[in-house]
Amino acid sequence: MKKLAIDGGKPLRPKGFPERFPYDKRELDIITKIMKLSIKTGIPFRYNDKYSKIYEKKFIKFMNGGFCNLVNSGTNALLASIASLKLKTKSDILVPCLTDVGCVTPIIILGFKPIPVDICKKNFNVSLDEIKKKITKNTSAVIVAHIGGEVTDIDKISKYLKSKKIKLIEDCSQSHGAMYKKNKVGTFGDISFFSTMSSKLHTTGGTGGVIFSRYKNLIHNSKLFSDRGKYFQNSKFTGKYISTGLNLTIDELSSAIGTIQLDKLSLTIKRTNFIGEYIKKKLIDNKSPSKISGQYKNTFNVYWFLRITLDLTKIKVSKKKYCEALKKEGLSLSEKYIYNPFYQKWIKDHKFKKKLKFPNYDQSLKKNYVIFIRENYNKKDVQDIIRIIKKVDNEFKK
Ligand SMILES: Cc1ncc(COP(=O)(O)O)c(C=O)c1O
Repeated sequence: MKKLAIDGGKPLRPKGFPERFPYDKRELDIITKIMKLSIKTGIPFRYNDKYSKIYEKKFIKFMNGGFCNLVNSGTNALLASIASLKLKTKSDILVPCLTDVGCVTPIIILGFKPIPVDICKKNFNVSLDEIKKKITKNTSAVIVAHIGGEVTDIDKISKYLKSKKIKLIEDCSQSHGAMYKKNKVGTFGDISFFSTMSSKLHTTGGTGGVIFSRYKNLIHNSKLFSDRGKYFQNSKFTGKYISTGLNLTIDELSSAIGTIQLDKLSLTIKRTNFIGEYIKKKLIDNKSPSKISGQYKNTFNVYWFLRITLDLTKIKVSKKKYCEALKKEGLSLSEKYIYNPFYQKWIKDHKFKKKLKFPNYDQSLKKNYVIFIRENYNKKDVQDIIRIIKKVDNEFKK
């Protein structure tokens, strides 16, 4: 085998892996059309108009029915989702400890208490067992995220919370189109939300978010909150403002990009699922100390990234060195997926009675690393990922 790049050898992918290229002429054409019309007529494009309506319809079709509300970020989608549920004042909302900070701040801003839930031992998601440990009489809702496109045991969680009359908010920001028993994530919760910022599996451009629910009244409430309490009848503003709200609306350009992106989403998730499953199998075949495991049965995972568990007993070097070696060969990875809002300094201002501890999260950082993949990787790109891991394994495997 060739000398490792970390030891001065030639990297397997000196130029790394391709960029994503999420846009093409279709996005360009649609935003040019909107802009040209504005220039020609002198009427500026707005929001909640033609393209927002098309996008809404397409998103609902993608989810096989239901209702949705388009907003301008995932964080604001959660803000309006929580507001829509009309939860008991000052109650507790459970939230995963491994998630984006935008999953926690809306809870605080709306006057609720965020109660962190440790992830499970198997993957990056919270489990029913971990959730149960944190439920009290004051729990009004639970946020569950499907991190990295991997589906959690959402059916069990949803049934349990329903029996306890606790609301479930699903965070599908990293898992557009993932499924449990052929049902899309986002359909299990009372309400769910998706970030559509630039790196997500489908995007509305730089930033954006979607709220989805099977319950019309919740989407109605969320729309009131996200557009200053404006009251519409037959899509026409009545001139009345009937409740408190902010302006979280998304504009026509972003919605138009979203409509094109939704056309691409089915193929995108087919590709990322294929790449993830292929790499998973090859790692097993190659008896690599790196593996993808700990997923639930009956799940269709969309691999926004690959969560790789490294068997530390099977390598001669530290995880840090192993990952450095992979990186030097050209692989795009993060040795630690550090996303715990409760380890940020500012969270201390929000007075938790006990010292916060996350043993599973801490353990998980020690053994997992993350490989970034993209739907446009071709056969050679995918095979090169395997070849890089194999090359490093050859040197470092015990
Ligand atoms: C799991 C998760 N939840 C929430 C968010 C917040 O979304 P946004 O960045 O669109 O506000 C993100 C963003 O990356 C995320 O990954």
